[in-house]
Amino acid sequence: MTINADRLWARIEALSRITDPDRPWTRRSFSPLFLKGREWLAREFRASGLETSIDAAGNLVGRLAGSDPDLKPIVIGSHSDTVPSGGRYDGILGVIAGLEVAQSLLERGERLRHPLEIYDFLAEEPSEFGLSCIGSRALAGMLSDEMLNLRRPDGMTLMEGLAYVGGDPESLASVRRPSDGTAAYVEVHIEQGRVLEQENIAIGIVTDIVGIHRERITVVGRADHAGATPMPLRADALVGAARIVEMVYDRALALAGGDKPLVATIGKLDVQPNAANAVPGEVEMVLEVRCGDETVTRTFPASLIEEVRPSLAALGLDIRVEPVSHASPTPCAPIVRDAIRAAASSLGLSSRDLPSGAGHDGVFVAQTGPIGMIFVPCRDGRSHAPDELIEPHQAADGARVLFETVRRLDTILG
Ligand code: GLV
Ligand code: MN
Ligand code: MN
Repeated sequence: MTINADRLWARIEALSRITDPDRPWTRRSFSPLFLKGREWLAREFRASGLETSIDAAGNLVGRLAGSDPDLKPIVIGSHSDTVPSGGRYDGILGVIAGLEVAQSLLERGERLRHPLEIYDFLAEEPSEFGLSCIGSRALAGMLSDEMLNLRRPDGMTLMEGLAYVGGDPESLASVRRPSDGTAAYVEVHIEQGRVLEQENIAIGIVTDIVGIHRERITVVGRADHAGATPMPLRADALVGAARIVEMVYDRALALAGGDKPLVATIGKLDVQPNAANAVPGEVEMVLEVRCGDETVTRTFPASLIEEVRPSLAALGLDIRVEPVSHASPTPCAPIVRDAIRAAASSLGLSSRDLPSGAGHDGVFVAQTGPIGMIFVPCRDGRSHAPDELIEPHQAADGARVLFETVRRLDTILG
């Protein structure tokens, strides 16, 4: 075998166990636990022989020199942060598989022509600053000043957050890559859906990554005493928010069957003052819309807000809407997809094409070169939940295909 499957699995187990003990499997970006995971990863990178550093955008990067100094790097990456209670494999599989490929190359005495870079991208999941894919955005030069001034609930700005994880927000230009700055990018990830498992297929070859649009919706009413305020005199922001939540669900359900299916979610709500004996005065929530059709991701929230505004006004409520982030649907490059297909086939592993309904750092890395993704099945398609599960042989299949894919790309890319 090209890679060491036992070592790969032992590392996945070790990093996943660096979790909030009360909320497995949680390692939120910009937290002390995240830094602990990063220290562990950086030690493993160094011990494996990678030149290791944190770049200005707070990405952990391990490098292997190539034999041709004129060639752009082949990049492997994913992320070590998690959503709350749900990242046992989501993210870390891709980082640790990348490390395994690099270490196996070194051990075999195989030197690629291209430099090889392994990235643990900073904060792929939506962070407490409300922003996702922070490290990969920086590679694409898409981390704006407005984003750097975002504040998390305790008041810290993203700029301060970058310094907290070892980045240097003043030097972000140093990580920005031109549109041909990456020879190719490959990421291994769990599928987070049921297609591979249901069809008993070992490897998914991602065709494209869904577009994701997020907007912050704030319903503004009036906080009042819950005992002393008669019902007709209330402006209860949570009642308005509940109408919006239901409407999002119903409208998305109606659009679910098209050729570019849409999903829409309100998964985050902050209620003020959030007390049993106070009428809710303000509710802030994030509406997330995903679709392969970019226009739909923008028109869905706008038309929904227009429709709901009069009925909220009748409840004495106002609505504010602000965009949070937008990522366009992103195709994976044929050259990388073909290399993954050939790699799987050479290893005797079944494979099929499929789209990714989840967002990934590749959306931003695609601004710097061709990208591709290798999916492996996960049990019942469960993800972003504590019972996310894969088998050791599935992780090993992903890493073996990654190894072969990188070798092939190294040969065919200029
Ligand atoms: C990332 O995990 C996403 O799809 O939100
Ligand atoms: Mn995720
Ligand atoms: Mn992920």
